[in-house]
Order: sequence, then structure tokens, then C-alpha cells
Amino acid sequence: MSDKTSKNLWGGRFAGRADPKFTDFNRSFGFDRRLFEVDVRGSIAHCNGLVRADVLTSDEGEQIESALNELLENAGSRSRFLEDAVAEDVHSFVEARMVEMVGDLGRKLHTGRSRNDQVATDLRLWLRDEIDRLVALLFDSQTTLLDLAEANRDVVIPGYTHLQRAQPVLFAHWCLAYLEMLARDRERLADVRKRLNVLPLGSAALAGTSYSIDRESVARELGFDSVSRNSLDAVSDRDFCIEFASAASMIMMHLSRLAEDIILYSTTEFGFFELSDAVATGSSLMPQKKNPDAMELVRGKAGRVFGHLQSLLTTMKGLPLAYNKDMQEDKEALFDTVDTVKASLSVATIVLRNIRLNGSRTREAATRGYLNATELADYLVRKAVPFREAHETVGRMVMHAIQRRCELNDLSLDEFKSFSPLIDDDVLDSLSLEATLATKSQIGGTAPSRVAEALASARKSLAAD
Ligand code: ARG
Repeated sequence: MSDKTSKNLWGGRFAGRADPKFTDFNRSFGFDRRLFEVDVRGSIAHCNGLVRADVLTSDEGEQIESALNELLENAGSRSRFLEDAVAEDVHSFVEARMVEMVGDLGRKLHTGRSRNDQVATDLRLWLRDEIDRLVALLFDSQTTLLDLAEANRDVVIPGYTHLQRAQPVLFAHWCLAYLEMLARDRERLADVRKRLNVLPLGSAALAGTSYSIDRESVARELGFDSVSRNSLDAVSDRDFCIEFASAASMIMMHLSRLAEDIILYSTTEFGFFELSDAVATGSSLMPQKKNPDAMELVRGKAGRVFGHLQSLLTTMKGLPLAYNKDMQEDKEALFDTVDTVKASLSVATIVLRNIRLNGSRTREAATRGYLNATELADYLVRKAVPFREAHETVGRMVMHAIQRRCELNDLSLDEFKSFSPLIDDDVLDSLSLEATLATKSQIGGTAPSRVAEALASARKSLAAD
């Protein structure tokens, strides 16, 4: 540790030394070094702003900029360049290293800037990149779901409500349901990104900068759409972190539901899916076991991300304007949220790629347990029976079939007629699995024709992205 690196960014006003326990407590470099690259990028843009404002000569600006670029190269090429360093935070680290390189000139870079607008800028830059990566991962998951659906176009599964067999649906329809969730997730991230993409730099500590820095040009250089309108708000706003954690929580909630379906469908009791060895584990004790750990972890990690959302909200709720050190606590929550969602999405995609379906098993499940009872009621409705009455009649027929230990389509025409004389021998056609599916032909339904359309349009919209 060089003396300069560890030196505080303040001094003049202080006579005594900080307690080492406090110094440790105060440090964020252990985690905020992840902002190193964006901190340097932001510093270069600030440096250029200072040159344009005639605070630095262009020669000075060039020296600082090339030192900052060299730092980036060092971090890329020297292993443990960041890990082995000691600093209070990433901002003091970058400044100290740069001063080591260019001497006193380096001390001019912080003119018109505070770590308050700096850290707000860094976080936005960092999260913007991560959101772009997450969107790409969501896209991969969507594509995989679509591939899975298309490869199993004819597979029928029971649809459930209350986890009781309800009506048959196409397996592809099930895939497309998750595809919709992920599509909304992507929209939400795009929306977070829009509000995130505003430059705080130039707000300085809280009141704005007193140098004639053209903030708009700094914003353009860093790819921001606009500059913040109020300096107090800009340095103390972490809405974008909370919005992101909320969108991330929603992603995890969706993945967790997907995980739950997959875990359930892979049990011996259901037997719809077989998980590949690539994403399952065995038991150290029971030789027969094949456990869906990957999906259980995804389900479990949802709780962790929800916790981060809660912790960010709680950290911010009582803070007076403007910056408060409490806000340093935003980083680990944010970083872990990003890491967890990224890892969960990647693993969920691998699991989806490795699912094998047992089509005869799902078909059997979709045709046993009176999943066509609603169809029979609809049949009676077509014969002008009011739906409520039809429902009642079919209920009694189901009761009868349960006692006979058979399905509705195993009943004889005489039996049917004993419940309703309106029933003819065309009834069996409308109770078939094919007919049951085909009638759900309005937009959003599981009729094979509709699902084929939905698959094609999903493919088209993914191709357009
Ligand atoms: N490490 C600090 C944080 O993450 C940087 C901002 C510090 N600002 C200050 N005035 N102490 O919040």
C-alpha cells in the first residue's frame, strides 16, 4: 500500500487521525472497485468538460486523460491490480493512482466535481451496461423457450388451476406463457434504462458546479440522453436502483414460478419432464435420486433479490436531502441483484435447453380426470341449455363417471341421454382431446391454429429485436 493511495481525500480541517476500526468501516473499495472502469470513463468526460470550460489547458487535459487510459490498461492487463490495492473507495483510488502518474496536475481533476455526483454517475453508467447484458440474457431465455415450444408442437399437457387438473393445453402454450412474462420483463428494463439515462455529473456536492462546464456535452460524451434538472435531487436520487431492483425482483418471481413448474413436472408423480444429468444432482445417501437443484436454487435466489429491493427502499426512506453516507449501502445490494439475476437467467436457460418431455405421459394426464367436462357443458349450451344448468347437469354426470370409475367419453349414449335427452351421438366428437383444444380458437387461446400463429409471431418479434 503506497502512502498516497491510502491517504484521505480531506485533511486540512483534521488534526487527529481516524480510528482504524472506523476507517475500515467507512471503506467501500472492497466492493465499489467494480465501478473502476466507469469511474475512469466518467473522469475522462469530466476532464474534457474542464478543458472546454478553460479550467484545464488542453495539454493538461491530455496528460490527465492519457494517465486515466493507462490506468484502464493496467486494470486490464495486470492481475490483481484492483484486488491488491487499499483505498477508501474507487474514486479516491483512481484519483490517487492518477496523481502518482502525473503529479500535482492530477489534483486538478476534481475541480467542480464531488464524489457525490461522481458516484451517482458511475452507478448509472455501470447499471446501464448491466441492463443491456440482462436484456440479452432475457432474449436468450425467450429464444430457448420458443425453440422448446416449436420442437414439441404437438405435445399436450394438463392445464391446472389450484393445481387440480383443469383443461388440456398445448405444451407450446405453456412455453409461450413464460415467454410473455419475459417480454414484459424486457420492457420493464427498457423503461428503467430510460429514466436511468440522465447525467448527474455537474451537480457537484449538492448545489451545482460553479465552473462553466457544459453539462450537455459531457452527457453526450457518456451516452446520456439528458442532464439532471436539479442538483439536490441528482446527488441523492437512487430511484433508478430501486426501480431496477423491482424489475429484477419481477424477473426472479417469474423464474421462480418457472422453476416450480419444472420441479413439479419432473417428479415421479407427474413424470412430464426428465431433467438431463447436466442440470441435476444425485443424493449422497439415496442412490436413486435425481434432484432438480438448479431450479431449486433459482427459486431460492428469488428471495435474496426481493430482500435487496426491500433493503434499498429501507436505506432510502428516511434520508434528508441531499447525499448521505447511508447511500454507500446501495452498492452491494445492487451488485448482488445484478449477479444473481444474470446467473439465474443463464442457468434457467440451460435447464430449458435440457428438458426432455414424456409426451405419452402428459397426454395421459391431459385425458384423465374429466378435463373435458367444460366441453360437455359447452356442448349442451350449443343445444340451447343455459350454461348454469348445463354446468349442474355435467357435474352430476362427472359424479356418475367417478362412481363408474371411467371418463366422460367412456359413457354410453344411453347413459348420456339419461342425464339430458338433448345429447346425441355427436357428443363423443366434441369430447375428444383434439376438439377440446380446437375450440379455444379466439386470440390468446390454446387452439393449435392460434398457438401456431403465436409461435410465428413470437419468432418474428424476437428476430426483429
Ligand atoms: N463511497 C461513497 C458512496 O458510495 C462515495 C461518495 C462519498 N461521498 C461523500 N461525500 N463521502 O456513497
